[in-house]
Order: sequence, then structure tokens, then C-alpha cells
Amino acid sequence: MNEKDALKEIEKLREEINYHNYRYYTLDSPVIPDAEYDMLFKKLVKTEEIFPHLITPDSPTQRIGAIPLKEFRTISHTIPMLSLSNANTDEETKEFDERIKRFLEIKGEIEYVAEPKIDGLAIELVYVDGIFTAGSTRGDGYIGEDVTLNLKTVKSIPLILLDKAKGKVKAEVEGEKTLPIPVRLEVRGEVFIPIKEFEKLNKLREERGEPPFANPRNAAAGSIRQLDSKITAARPLDIYCYGIGVVEGIKFKSHWETMHALKGWGLKVNPSIKICKGIDEVIQYHRDMEEKRDEIPYELDGVVVKVNSLDLQDRLGILTRSPRWAIAYKFKARQEMTMIKEIKVGVGRTGALTPVAILEPIVVGGVTVERATLHNQDEIARKDIRIGDYVIVQRAGDVIPEVVTVIKEKRTGREKPFRLPEKCPLCNSAVIRDGAIHRCTAGLLCPAQLKEGIRHFVSKRGMNIEGLGDRHIEQFVENAVIKDVADIYSLKKEDIIKLERWGDKSVSNLLNQIENSKNRTLARLIYSLGIRQVGEHIAKILADDFDSLDELMNASYERLTEIHEIGPETAESIITFFKERHNRDVIDKLRKAGVKTEERVHKKRDLRFKGKQFVLTGTLSIFKREDAKELIESLGGRVTSTVSKKTDYIIAGIDPGSKYDKAKELKIKILNEEEFKDLLDIKQNVI
Ligand code: IVH
Repeated sequence: MNEKDALKEIEKLREEINYHNYRYYTLDSPVIPDAEYDMLFKKLVKTEEIFPHLITPDSPTQRIGAIPLKEFRTISHTIPMLSLSNANTDEETKEFDERIKRFLEIKGEIEYVAEPKIDGLAIELVYVDGIFTAGSTRGDGYIGEDVTLNLKTVKSIPLILLDKAKGKVKAEVEGEKTLPIPVRLEVRGEVFIPIKEFEKLNKLREERGEPPFANPRNAAAGSIRQLDSKITAARPLDIYCYGIGVVEGIKFKSHWETMHALKGWGLKVNPSIKICKGIDEVIQYHRDMEEKRDEIPYELDGVVVKVNSLDLQDRLGILTRSPRWAIAYKFKARQEMTMIKEIKVGVGRTGALTPVAILEPIVVGGVTVERATLHNQDEIARKDIRIGDYVIVQRAGDVIPEVVTVIKEKRTGREKPFRLPEKCPLCNSAVIRDGAIHRCTAGLLCPAQLKEGIRHFVSKRGMNIEGLGDRHIEQFVENAVIKDVADIYSLKKEDIIKLERWGDKSVSNLLNQIENSKNRTLARLIYSLGIRQVGEHIAKILADDFDSLDELMNASYERLTEIHEIGPETAESIITFFKERHNRDVIDKLRKAGVKTEERVHKKRDLRFKGKQFVLTGTLSIFKREDAKELIESLGGRVTSTVSKKTDYIIAGIDPGSKYDKAKELKIKILNEEEFKDLLDIKQNVI
């Protein structure tokens, strides 16, 4: 390839990749499988390797992380980054509204914009001519730290604004009037880690013996304030933009209009922002959001209320360090005080001993909390937690509650220190220290580890054997009917029927389910093995790349790390897992029992539903809902929950609801399950 062709190729690839990044990270709606994206990315990396002088700082390959810094430089904010004053009750929020009306001498309702107040880290992004050139933390409001390299690794931050990007991307930004890009654009937003990702990150840290982060906010802040941007790159950071600093050449009229312009340029704006006419609508919004709080995938601690008109904002001005035109209406605290009655020890799937505080029950943010994780011995020592202590407990989303601090002033002297045992409380085997973790050494001979391993194997996202509930696993392990996960497939009627609580019908139901589970996807099988660091997402990536479990089992470290998203530690963990004699034996047994360890041929390359949107409604009888969803997705389609003009097919089961009527109204193709099966061309039930 000559240089001219290379440049053309590079530009084309960047355009494609920018487009798919935008679909995946900003819109949450990818149109190609991950494997295809990886191919494009690798091609770009390769071409840039041959022609390194064609690399530009805005190339998608430049997100990966650069050489570690010695210290951060500083960046001054052209316009100070202010903070907000708080309101804690409806009354205080109404007073805020009245103050504004008095100040402006307005009688009628004020128009506000209400938006979620995300608990993350405030940052500023600077785009010059549409190119991301600098990013900084809020710092003291006037001067922040230069974290440009780190912010570049956040995939939902565009390196280049959409108007600069060509072709497809531009056409995609539906409904947004894309304004010409200002010469200089300063954008403010909140960088955060979604709660699920935060949980995963902490689990990983505990496994590695690193101290866990206290909450998603600390995790986000700790990740952005890293001198080594490669560490930041490995953290699941996301962003929502909520404001601007200097914007040269454009004068906006309202906050709402500003947010839409940002969206039009490809920046991520929270879809839950809402115009509220008058303060009563703001209060209703606050109530709705607080009710939904547990379903929202990120941590939020209130709503921010802003006067919409920028003219009015100007007239209202600033009061010392916070504007008069905005307020944070906080949610109820998620921290409360209670007492530790006892500390129990749990044993997990990997043998990790976890100390759990049994609490005097307490209602935290509307939910009764009776236990809290204490993570590990080091955490107990660091916080000096003792049995009998009064402590502050904290709850975030559906994360396991945890102890934040001890109230030392309330100590009586009768509190008892705690140490993790030297023998496993379940199997009495030796416990060793592995970093910060105390681990039982018995492996699958430890009933707790075996039980947890089986529970994971049969779980909904794993091999999905519903009939094998916790009680049965307990029973089978205790009666030595199951000694490893592969034994599930050699269960015989006569072995089960002699146990308590089993009858002819329940046994045959279970055996049927077990039989059906032999044909699950390769991704599910890989996930269900419980390899450390291999969650659902990584399992899917592996299943996309390898045709069979055998191939994966024999893959080298180099082969694994070549895959986008598989880092050295994950590769190491996969290799270690498959090196273990016992694990190879189990896989052998699974294969001999007839469990499918190769991928169905059509799943990999057949993308017949590419770009098609499906909605499932009513009770499905042939397919399980999640199986139908998985099938559609594996063929390149997408399943959404609401019917719109963009919906291509409705799959209607028994008693379809209003979605069915809406689909009829919009003349969308409605299929019953049989017709759906035909569409899939499934001759027999393979799921
Ligand atoms: S507006 C003058 N909007 O809350 C307005 N802030 O004390 C300044 N925050 O440090 C901020 N979500 O990091 C605004 N939708 C939102 C926000 C938000 C979170 C944070 C921000 C700031 C703090 C305000």
C-alpha cells in the first residue's frame, strides 16, 4: 500500500470506528457485533503501525493510554466551575423558587430544567475546532488538574465532534439540529462509574488484594486522578455532560437548547433531563426520580434544578460560590447509624472468606438492612471495626450495604475485636492468605466452594437450569450425589428419588431441564465455568473468537491477549484455569455427557437480523423470553422494550398487551411464536 492509499484507508477506518463508538457508547445501540468492531480496530492499528507519521491525537487508537506522568500539570478554568447550594425538603425547594421570583419580580411560573445529580467527578472538556484538546478536573473551581490523557480513554467522550466527523455519523444524529462547531467549546460534565461496574471493579480489587473503593464516586475520582492513563483505560468510566464554559461564536437562549446542541455534536447528555413548568413539576420530578433510584444504573444523590432561560440566569447571577439560578435538591441519605451484633464468615466460589456484619436492623433510604459486608481482614483493621460497635452503614443501589466508619465516641470498652479464622468454617481445611484475601485451600473439596460453583454454573445467565435451586444444590452436595459440576449430567432418577422431597414428576422435570441445557451457547458455557475475571461480557467475546471450548482451552497467552478487551490478567486467569488438571477433567466429563462445547455454525456469521429491532410481548410458550432475546441478538438484531416507528417485528405470545395494539396501529409486522420460529428457520428446539 502506498502512503496515499494508506491515508485514505486510515480516514475511512477512523470514520467507521468513530461511528460505531458513538452508536455503542453514546447511544447504547450498536449496529455491528463486537467481533466486527475489533476487526476494524485491529486493521486501523496495523495500518498506523506501518505509517506511524499518519497517527493523529484524535485517532481512536490514541485512547489506549500513554506513558505515565510524573505529576499533573494544572489548567485554569476560563469561567470558574461553581458549586451548588442544597435543598433537602419540598419547602426549601419552594423557597428557592420564591427567592427567584422575588429577585426577578416575576409573578408567573418560572421554567426550569431538572436533571439527575450524578455522584461522580466534575470535569471540563475543551474542544478546539471540534477536536478534544484538553480536559481537567474541577479542582478548587478556578484551577484544576490536567487529566487530558485520562479523559481520552473514556470511550463516551468523543475525540472529535460529530460535525467534524463525516458521512454516516452526521446523518445519524436524528432530530438534533447540528449547529456549526464553535472555534472553542468548553463542556462540563460528570464522569462516573455505573453501579454494576463498580461492584465488579471492587470484586476484582478484593481478589487481587487491593483495598476496595468506598463508593462509585471515589472509584471514578481515583480512576481519573491516575498518573498512568493505562490504569484509567481499564476502568469502566462514563460521562454525562450538563453545562458549558466558554463557547466562542454561538449564543444560546436556554439551558435546554444548549443541551441539545451538545447532543447534536455527539456529546453524551442525560436522557432523563426534563423541562418543568413551575416548581410543582420540579417537586414531582424529584419524587419520581427518588422512587426510581434503585433501578437507575448509576449512583445519584439528588436532582439539579436550573432556571432554563440564560437571560434570567444572567440576571440572577452568582452568590459567592454558587449560582442563584440553580439548586441541588438532595435525596434522602443512604447512610444511617446502627450496631454490629455479630460478625459471621461466608465462603465464596473462589474460597474467599468474607466477614459479614450482622446488624441491628435499620432502615436505610427506605430499605431494611440487616447485614453489611466488611470485605476482608485488612478493611476491618483499617476501620478498626469491633463486635458491638456503633457504625455508619451505607447502601448504594442494589450493592451490598457496607460499613463506612465506626463511631468511636460510643464505645463502652466491651466491644470485641475480630479475626478471620485459620480454618475454613465449612470444611475445616487450612486457610491461607492471598493478598488481602483469606482463602480456603480445599478447592472443590470445600462444600461451600462446590455449592457456589454449582450455583453459578446453573444460574440464569449460565446454563440456566432453573429446577436446580439452592436447596437442591445443598441436598445433592451434602448427599455426595454431585461432586463437581459435570456430575449434574450424570444424575440418575434412582439417585434422586431416594432423597427427601422428590417425586416422579419433579425428578423428570429436572432431568428434562438438564437435558435441554446441553445445547446452550458456547458463551454461556464459558461463563458458567466460573473462570476468574471471565464474566458474561468476556465470555461472549471469547465465544466470538473461538469455535470451541477445546480451542479456547489450548489457546496461548499471546493468542488471548491479541483479542481486544482481553488484558494480561484475564489471559493469565484463563490459562491458569485450563492448566488445572481437575478443570480439564470436568470439561472432558461435560463433553462425554453430551454438553455442546462447539458453537452452532449459524450463530457466528449469520447476521440476518442486522439493524432490525424486535419487541417481545405477551407470555411466550415455546421460547423462554431471555432465550428469544439471546437468539435475536446473536443474529445481529436488537430487542427493545417499547414499540416505535423504528420497530421492525413484534413477537406476540399469549395475552399481548398494549404493545400489540400500538404495533397494529403503526402497521408493524406481528409474528406469533410459530412464525418467529420459521423466521429463525429452526427445525428443532435447539435452545
Ligand atoms: S451543574 C453552577 N448539573 O454537582 C452549576 N452539577 O455542587 C454547577 N453535578 O461539582 C453544576 N450532576 O459535579 C450540575 N446535572 C448536574 C450535575 C452536577 C452532578 C455535580 C457537579 C458539581 C456538583 C455541584
